[in-house]
Amino acid sequence: MARDLLRILTCGSVDDGKSTLLGRLLYDTAQVLEDQLTTLQRDTRRYGTTAGEIDLALLADGLEAEREQGITIDVAYRQFATPRRAFIVADAPGHEQYTRNMATGASTSELAVLLVDARKGLLDQSRRHAAICSLLGIRHVVLAVNKIDLVGYGRATFEAITAEFASFAGRLGFTDVRAIPVSARDGDNVTARSARTPWYDGSTLLEYLETVDVRRDSDASPFRLPVAWISRPEDVRGYAGTVAAGSVRAGDDIVVAGSGAIARVSRVLGPDGDVEMARKGDAVTLCLDRHVDVARGDVLAAPKARPEVADQFTADIVWMGDEHLLPGRSYLMRIGTRWVPAAVTMIKYKLNVATLEHLAARELHLNEIASCNIATGVPVAYDTYAENRETGGFILVDRFTHATAAAGMIAHGLRRATNIHHERLSLDKTARAALNLQKPGIIWFTGLSAAGKSTIARAVEAKLYTLGRHTMMLDGDNLRHGLNRDLGFTDVDRVENIRRVGEVAKLMVEAGLIVICAFISPFRAERAMVRALFDEGEFFEIFVDTPLADCIQRDPKGLYAKAKSGALPNFTGIDSAYERPENPELTLSTANKTPEELAVAVLNRCGYL
Ligand code: ADX
Repeated sequence: MARDLLRILTCGSVDDGKSTLLGRLLYDTAQVLEDQLTTLQRDTRRYGTTAGEIDLALLADGLEAEREQGITIDVAYRQFATPRRAFIVADAPGHEQYTRNMATGASTSELAVLLVDARKGLLDQSRRHAAICSLLGIRHVVLAVNKIDLVGYGRATFEAITAEFASFAGRLGFTDVRAIPVSARDGDNVTARSARTPWYDGSTLLEYLETVDVRRDSDASPFRLPVAWISRPEDVRGYAGTVAAGSVRAGDDIVVAGSGAIARVSRVLGPDGDVEMARKGDAVTLCLDRHVDVARGDVLAAPKARPEVADQFTADIVWMGDEHLLPGRSYLMRIGTRWVPAAVTMIKYKLNVATLEHLAARELHLNEIASCNIATGVPVAYDTYAENRETGGFILVDRFTHATAAAGMIAHGLRRATNIHHERLSLDKTARAALNLQKPGIIWFTGLSAAGKSTIARAVEAKLYTLGRHTMMLDGDNLRHGLNRDLGFTDVDRVENIRRVGEVAKLMVEAGLIVICAFISPFRAERAMVRALFDEGEFFEIFVDTPLADCIQRDPKGLYAKAKSGALPNFTGIDSAYERPENPELTLSTANKTPEELAVAVLNRCGYL
């Protein structure tokens, strides 16, 4: 029978001895090969900190770059095994700036070994690590009080640290915390009981890791299969994916989480054909006894424990993006095998991970952790992260760079999502537009302040009016006095400004109008978000491409002069960015053209002339 596998995360500050401890485990469990030993002796001379003796830390610190810097810079996964168990160790760096790496390592681990230096006791860093472990779903912790030799194998020191940790960790929901006094360098209580700590009668670190029971009863938890793809081998349609929880056999009933449709599993196919049963972690294809609508990204589940479905959640997120989080901005969310648009609608609070204090926040920066409300473009099936890391965890991805911006853990769904229904109106956009004898749409001008957006927009509207078209004009100046009067010019406020403008414009297009918008709208993410609110062919992005120097020279409201003198902060083009459109429907250069000429070009492009 295969040995069972324990996934461990090691964490602690840079010089708490994490790498030495890991090296010690590998060395004492004879995982070190001869040739590695030779390298190690050589490297000890080159990089080591132990003056002659083999530096075990070098064994664990895999990368050349890390060795040279003397710190660990990424998550490294290492394996070792004893006759009783196999282990995968995620070794995550300790510095605050590497929180994202640590969160990544923690998300796949069942147990954390948290090292503290007996001389220093608990540091903010130790508390941060414990909090992150808890947030990422780790329920078992070993508090390894290291360098116990350097405090004279003192029982009182050990007990004081243990007690302090217990009082902090009491709020973190761990199911067990085991404290062990160790010296990673000398091996005390790592794999062999130490005679120098006679007052300690618990197990050694290795014994504990070999015997601790972390398994949840995964076969008994309700079945979940996020559908990764739909296959048609010959004429059988099959739903393929990796089982995320529970187990499934032919003859079981399943429910499609999103629609509630029920079917019976007719076949369970493994990589080599029919199998009797598949369980968590297995790649399978399921065939059903009848046709039901299932799309890629749907979740097939046990009907008695159907996952929740919602489009609004409260979730904890770890921000991993280099660009900070702006509430209201649209990201792509991957949950299970599904991709959906999603935005953080509110930051409820930011967590001070060292004190567990809740702080107010309007933005979130790299490595910060917060509780947020999140809205998705369409309802998704989920479990809470506490119930299931696979169906309750998600990532947010930047739409433009495709970089992971955040990792998230669903705390609970918000009922509101399922309680608000879109009014099904008997009169729709097409009917209203027909009455107006026009094709509704939105003409969106973007560009620097004083580029000429509003002037051209007014000329466009005048022209449409003479053509008998029904229009409405929205610009920064009229909206910022009313609906958006609570917003300023920080990045967060600009995102919200454009989000509201987009929603208002959408209602007006629904009303059958041609809506003309003139906003600096400096960020491409929000322009894309507004575009996504409309049907194909309804949204026209017009870039008024007046060079900054010309705008500064025109300066009709004297704002550039103020901004340059420092009296007006966050001014676009001066100390706040303008991101040029990449694929606008039309780019206008205002030099040597009258607003009327430019308006004609716009109307031609939009098909209104
Ligand atoms: S946006 O960036 O959020 O799209 P919006 O188009 O609504 O801006 O408003 C821009 C107008 O506000 C400018 O034309 C200018 O008159 C005024 N304004 C005042 N302060 C600023 C600022 N810091 N940056 C840009 N425009 C400003």
